[in-house]
Amino acid sequence: MEDVRIIELPKFEDPRGNLSFIEENDHIPFKIKRTYWIYDVPGGMTRGGHAFKEQQEFIVAMSGSFDVYINDGFKEQKFSLNRSYYGLYIPEGIWREMRNFSTNSLAIVVSSTDFSEDDYIRDINDFKKLKKS
Ligand code: TYD
Repeated sequence: MEDVRIIELPKFEDPRGNLSFIEENDHIPFKIKRTYWIYDVPGGMTRGGHAFKEQQEFIVAMSGSFDVYINDGFKEQKFSLNRSYYGLYIPEGIWREMRNFSTNSLAIVVSSTDFSEDDYIRDINDFKKLKKS
């Protein structure tokens, strides 16, 4: 759980508008293989609800806000994301759920792997069993 952490990104404040960026292996501790985003989330919906065996991720609230609930198989922790100049690093082997999306929120997720359904653990009981074994 201690590896899950908020990472601050560079922020160039400018009267013309601010600018931030992410570089692999520098701001985040992995090489970027894929980027996806979650948007148009209807009120009250939950995204995520799984863990990955290998995939590491970094999640940024590019717009609006949402909460990420993290579970390492033993305890749960909530991180609120609501700025585009920091994000949440989640190593492999951690259960996550994204909830409480604000209207028009945009979650961008950079990932260390290609998409693979085989990398997902989608049953919380399987996940907990695995962590306790
Ligand atoms: P999923 O990761 O289950 O969504 P979330 O964790 O955000 O709730 O992804 C939903 C579906 O989208 C998944 O079954 C297949 C597809 N998908 C891809 O094809 N490529 C991707 O990179 C991602 C993230 C999902």
